[in-house]
Amino acid sequence: MEPCDAATISSAFSTIGWNKPEAQYIRYMEDQNAGRAVVLVAELGDAFAGYGCVVWESSHAAFREKSIPEVSDLNVLPAFRRKGIATAIMNRAEALIAERSETAGIGFGIYEDYGGAQRMYVLRGYVPDGRGCTSHHKPVQGGDRVRADDALVLWLTKRLR
Ligand SMILES: CC(C)(COP(=O)(O)OP(=O)(O)OC[C@H]1O[C@@H](n2cnc3c(N)ncnc32)[C@H](O)[C@@H]1OP(=O)(O)O)[C@@H](O)C(=O)NCCC(=O)NCCS
Repeated sequence: MEPCDAATISSAFSTIGWNKPEAQYIRYMEDQNAGRAVVLVAELGDAFAGYGCVVWESSHAAFREKSIPEVSDLNVLPAFRRKGIATAIMNRAEALIAERSETAGIGFGIYEDYGGAQRMYVLRGYVPDGRGCTSHHKPVQGGDRVRADDALVLWLTKRLR
């Protein structure tokens, strides 16, 4: 990611009605500058197509405890989907992670909007880490009532080497 990408990404998503404020990507840029993350931006021709992040210290406690870096916030604009954009981002993300770690971590939401990501990650070899899902980063226990929102996440890992 380069500084000028923050406005480009925000405005590309606003064109399709998704509220992704520029401030979020300015923070990502700061994380990248500070060495906390690498933000991978994909373009097709000259057009912004999607992005994803490698976060060295995961937001998920079970990954953090084992120093497993996380691929997070992978997003491809609808018009560019099923063209291998996310695959290219994931390939690069995993190559970066493999330089520092044997294992990569990732999470997906468990309702249908995440169906593409669910299939993609499993087909790439990601396996649930065996600790169930979290809601707003808290482990979900049997019998809990939780809301099926974007913060209800199943976590998976992949052995890279
Ligand atoms: C998930 C997402 C990142 C995939 O991006 P993409 O660029 O379309 O993915 P690719 O073209 O690299 O797809 C790779 C493979 O993943 C699977 N896949 C991707 N999207 C799929 C879908 N909608 N349905 C079924 N399988 C899908 C397929 O196996 C696909 O290979 P194929 O096209 O040869 O069949 C994109 O759909 C997206 O941004 N979704 C909304 C946000 C999101 O869910 N992000 C992930 C957060 S956990």
